[in-house]
Amino acid sequence: MQNIPFYHRAFIAYLKEKVQSKEPNSLYDPILYILGLGGKRLRPILTLMTAEAFNDDYEHALNAALSVEIFHNFSLIHDDIMDAAPLRRGKPTVHEKWDINTGILSGDAMLIMAYQLFEQYEASTFQDLAKLFSKTALQVCEGQQYDMDFETRDDVQVEEYLKMIEFKTAVLVGAAMKMGAIVASAAKEDQDHIYEFGRLLGIAFQLQDDYLDAFGDPETFGKQVGGDIIENKKTFLYIKAVEFSDEDDKLQLQHLFGINPTDASDKIETVRQIFQSSGAADTTRNEIENYTKLAFKVLDELSIPENKKDALKEFGHDLMNRRV
Ligand code: IPE
Ligand code: IPE
Ligand code: MG
Ligand code: MG
Ligand code: MG
Repeated sequence: MQNIPFYHRAFIAYLKEKVQSKEPNSLYDPILYILGLGGKRLRPILTLMTAEAFNDDYEHALNAALSVEIFHNFSLIHDDIMDAAPLRRGKPTVHEKWDINTGILSGDAMLIMAYQLFEQYEASTFQDLAKLFSKTALQVCEGQQYDMDFETRDDVQVEEYLKMIEFKTAVLVGAAMKMGAIVASAAKEDQDHIYEFGRLLGIAFQLQDDYLDAFGDPETFGKQVGGDIIENKKTFLYIKAVEFSDEDDKLQLQHLFGINPTDASDKIETVRQIFQSSGAADTTRNEIENYTKLAFKVLDELSIPENKKDALKEFGHDLMNRRV
C-alpha cells in the first residue's frame, strides 16, 4: 500500500487523461471547471486505498474512483444552486460563473458520465457497482431533500439531523470504499465492514463540515463562512445550541433561524457567539471524535493486515483535524 499523496497524484493524472474538453463547450467547460478546481479528493483516494487494502492494484479501481469523484462534483454543482452558494474551493460556483441552467445540465451530464464509467468493468462487477451506486445516489437525493425541508422547520430533532447527514454525505463515503472492495472482489463481510467504516467516518466528516462552515478560516475554507447560518440550516451546532441555551438565547436563535436579512453579518456573529457560549461548539467537536472512534472500531472486524488498517486510521485522523 502506498501513502495518501501517491493515490492523490495517481488520481489527478487519471482524471486529466480521461476528462477533456469537447463540444458543446457550454456543456463540458463547466464540468472541466468544477473537476479542475481541486478539492481534497477524499472519496476517490478512499476507493483506491480500499482496492489495495484488499490486495488489488489501485489501477484497477481508477474508473470506480473517477466515477465517485464525478458524482460528488455533480452533487456539488446542484447543491450550490440549492444553497445559493457563491463560492466553491475559493472560486465562483458554476451557477455564479455561468448560470443556473448551465449548472443543471452540466450536472445532469456528470451524473450520466459517472454511471458510464462502470461499463469498463466485467459484468458481475458492473452489476454490483451499479446497484450500490443507484441505491447510494437515491439516498443522497433523499438526504438533500431533508436538508432543504429542515431549513423551514424549527423542530428538527438530533436523530433527524443524523439521518439527514448520513444520507446526503456519509453513504457516499461508505460507497466509495465499498466500490474499492467490490473491484478487488473482497469477501461480502469485508465489503460490508468497509462500508460501515466509511459511513461512520462520513458522519464525522459532515459534522466537521458543519463546524467549519461556522468557524472555519475564510482564507482557507474555500466556501462562504456562515453560509449555513444564512440559509437557516438545522445543523448539529444549531440543534445543540437550542437544547443547551437559556430561554432568552433559545428564543433569539429560533427567531434568527426564521429570517433572511439582506445583510446577514450581525446574524452570523450573534449565532456564532451562542454556538460557542452554549457549549454546542465543544459538543460538536466531541461528537466528531466519537464518530471517528466508532469508525476505527469497525476496522477490528476486518481481515486485512494491521499496517493497512493504520493507513486507513491515518486518513481518518487527517479528516478530523482538517481546516478545509
Ligand atoms: C463537500 O465535500 C460536501 C460535503 C459532503 C461536506 P468535500 O469537503 O469533500 O469537498 P471537496 O471535494 O474537498 O471540495
Ligand atoms: C452537501 O452538504 C452534501 C451534498 C453535496 C450531497 P453541504 O451543503 O453542507 O456541502 P457544502 O458545505 O456546500 O460543501
Ligand atoms: Mg452546500
Ligand atoms: Mg447543502
Ligand atoms: Mg456544508
